[in-house]
Amino acid sequence: FVNSAMLLGVGATGYLFFSLYRESHPAPQIPQSKTFANGSPRKTLVILGSGWGSVSLLKNLDTSKYNVVVVSPRNFFLYTPLLPSAPVGTVELKSIVEPIRAIGRRSKGEVIYHEGEASDVDTVNKVIKVKSSMNGAPHEFDVKYDYLVVGVGAQPNTFGTPGVYEHASFLKEISDAQEIRRKVMTTVSSAASLDPSDPERKRLLSFIVVGGGPTGVEFAAELQDFVDQDLSKWMPTISKEIKVTLVEASPNILGMFDKSLIQYTNDLFKKEKIEVKLKTAVKEVKETTVTTKCGDVVEETPYGILVWATGNAPRDVSLKLMSKLEEQNSRRGLLIDDKLRLLGGNGSIYSIGDCTFHAGLFPTAQVAFQEGVYLGEVFNKIHKIDQLKWELSNTQDKSSQEKIQAKIDIMNSKIDDFKYHHLGALAYIGSEKAIADIAMGESRYNLSGSFTFLFWRYAYLSMCISARNKVLVALDWIKVSIFGRNSSV
Ligand code: FAD
Ligand code: NAI
Repeated sequence: FVNSAMLLGVGATGYLFFSLYRESHPAPQIPQSKTFANGSPRKTLVILGSGWGSVSLLKNLDTSKYNVVVVSPRNFFLYTPLLPSAPVGTVELKSIVEPIRAIGRRSKGEVIYHEGEASDVDTVNKVIKVKSSMNGAPHEFDVKYDYLVVGVGAQPNTFGTPGVYEHASFLKEISDAQEIRRKVMTTVSSAASLDPSDPERKRLLSFIVVGGGPTGVEFAAELQDFVDQDLSKWMPTISKEIKVTLVEASPNILGMFDKSLIQYTNDLFKKEKIEVKLKTAVKEVKETTVTTKCGDVVEETPYGILVWATGNAPRDVSLKLMSKLEEQNSRRGLLIDDKLRLLGGNGSIYSIGDCTFHAGLFPTAQVAFQEGVYLGEVFNKIHKIDQLKWELSNTQDKSSQEKIQAKIDIMNSKIDDFKYHHLGALAYIGSEKAIADIAMGESRYNLSGSFTFLFWRYAYLSMCISARNKVLVALDWIKVSIFGRNSSV
């Protein structure tokens, strides 16, 4: 057993070093060009976004078959599953991001990246308007496409609740994690300078998380861990006064999980002294108080920090696309068919991830990732079809034309519908415990506790997008277990 374990360890370490070497020494790339060697045109594939869907597509696409252009305001990929750990320093911010240029550089064909936001899509002339900045001044330019993949994700949903944008923090981007980290440290310091009997001190030490979905639950858990495991050592009095409250409008937190796992989380939160307010909707956020409604009872609760995690809403560019295309009649997201083609997009626009709305597909990284893998394979097939079409247009002979057309039909029939394979869901719930709903074929398994936490760590580490991320995240966890969290800004 010892020999096998050692062999496995050596093998895994060797593979990790090999992956790190390969990442930092990418092979030369095939440059972009107007045509292929046979004279056929090389088509331009524009990918909007640098998130789960887009990066998964980029990694599975043969980029030498297209002129690939990525447009995104974020010049890195963000590993969102570990984002709730970042504000309190369980992982470092840099450990969960990977530059998009580095990802593009590792692919076979050259990938051009434009840092900017797609503001509009002209579906008739196949042009994207990109808003960017040059030397600090706004700068706009056009990008032409033959094929377009919209993977712009979603923005936080406020349901029009007054005061959210002005006073709350979101947990969606790396800048949000930075902001929360800064707020936690300054709020705790301000509270420490006040007399314990001062009501302002109590207000500052009231941390409210709105939304009992996985984002809210995982963040509340991380926050309480930080208070119990780290702050309690440096500021024992203050740490005992901090109150973390999770506010959820529906009768349950973590609606997507099995009842037994919800109960387990509720029990653990009770033990950890995280207050869970169910059937309580936030109606307004003011500078220092939040208004909640539970049944007919309206309450005003003072807070020091408020984190808003109530799910997704479409981005402006998605809304613009929806308003342009008659077929787009849902306000929840871009409508796509079973091959991920945008309805009304004339077969040249595809859409993946959180910006879409499709029955049975949830806005998760798991879905976006699988859609990216699928689309990578589809575009490799589309390239072959386009080559055949070019051949067809250059062939005069009738029987040759028929043969080529038959090949095109076969290739088209090989493009299957997208099928999502749900592998399960995992969530960290604090005190080194996690819950898991594992799907294996038709069977579902519900796991919870410390062993599940180890499984959670293993799964989240192995899903990191690069070997560099894996190493950095693992080192962060080791550092935290030895020295505690470093949440200084
Ligand atoms: P995103 O990953 O959000 O990427 C969208 C990209 O588009 C970004 O690069 C953005 O900058 C870019 N963009 C935005 N606007 C424009 C524009 N106008 N033009 C061009 N580009 C634009 N899911 C799980 O399955 N498991 C988890 O554990 C998990 N944990 C999560 C934790 C948190 C805190 C959050 C917020 C989400 C979590 N999710 C998880 C959900 C998961 O992150 C999303 O479902 C996933 O990111 C969706 O991928 P996407 O590519 O559609 O969008
Ligand atoms: P969510 O949509 O899953 O949950 C938001 C919650 O906020 C809902 O329970 C809703 O009832 C509540 N809410 C809405 N308005 C409210 C109000 N005014 N007051 C109080 N509560 C209110 O959103 P979340 O957690 O941001 O997740 C977004 C997506 O990302 C989901 O699909 C989720 O599955 C995925 N995700 C998955 C994770 C995981 O698998 N571990 C971790 C984080 C996100």
